[in-house]
Amino acid sequence: MGNLSEIIKGRKSVRTYDGNEISEEHRKDLEEYIKDIPNPFGVPVEFVLLDAKEHGLSSPVLAGESLYVAGKVEKKPHAEEAYGYSFEKLVLHAWKLGIGTVWIGGTMKRENFEKAAGVKSGEMMPCVSPLGYPAKKKSLKETMMRKGVGADTRIPAADLFFDGTWGSALDPDADMKGILEMVRWAPSAVNKQPWRIIRRDGVYHFYEKKDKGYVREETGDLQKIDVGIALCHFCMGLEEKGMHAETAVNDPGIEIPGDAEYIVSVSIRK
Ligand SMILES: Cc1cc2nc3c(=O)[nH]c(=O)nc-3n(C[C@H](O)[C@H](O)[C@H](O)COP(=O)(O)O)c2cc1C
Repeated sequence: MGNLSEIIKGRKSVRTYDGNEISEEHRKDLEEYIKDIPNPFGVPVEFVLLDAKEHGLSSPVLAGESLYVAGKVEKKPHAEEAYGYSFEKLVLHAWKLGIGTVWIGGTMKRENFEKAAGVKSGEMMPCVSPLGYPAKKKSLKETMMRKGVGADTRIPAADLFFDGTWGSALDPDADMKGILEMVRWAPSAVNKQPWRIIRRDGVYHFYEKKDKGYVREETGDLQKIDVGIALCHFCMGLEEKGMHAETAVNDPGIEIPGDAEYIVSVSIRK
């Protein structure tokens, strides 16, 4: 595991942990890291570490975990995208340290986590994740879950990234191809991969291609979180190649299908 592309491609959701607590050094590192994880939307996301035993926290899809992180955000425009971006930075940082995570937005007793995390009115806590060392062998449940959502596959690039208009496949240069590959391998709720990108006049416009059933009062729109995750991979990819991303919410008015929504645009400064 070394460069960003390897970290992103190598990361997989971890649902089976080895039962050990994370080392003091790692705990300190994470405590420091979560203090401030900025995102381009300027919406602060607050993270709290929660001891599973102390708070009686568990999830039916997990085994062997002893620590969780919960993320909270004020309910306001772009909260979900900001949330996806900041939380994913933490996910990748943890993976670099050898610490496994899995985004959990559904399969948990939400009230227990919200209480432990101290969610205030006007805030939401869409997701949590365990933080721990992966077990050598996945539980049968985990293996079945991965199969069920096709977790080891992704939609082909030609169906995600478009040139000028919705649906016409983009043929990017080698650098951009690598960066878009990092976007393609992002995690998403039920592996639906709702992100779409149209490049027009050198600007990359991000869209959400919506599926039904992902919007709830307690979580906001989970698929907007997914788009925030994709944006995080895109911006980190650019940075690694020495390019700078300028993000702006400014709908270019490109014609899109009825189940799609414009989210954000990225211009690149070299
Ligand atoms: C916003 C979000 C919510 C998720 N919620 C859950 C969940 O409740 N339970 C679960 O087991 N996995 C959950 N996942 C994990 C996805 O199923 C997983 O990322 C996807 O199948 C791809 O697999 P990978 O992460 O191993 O690449 C969630 C992922 C995201 C991004």
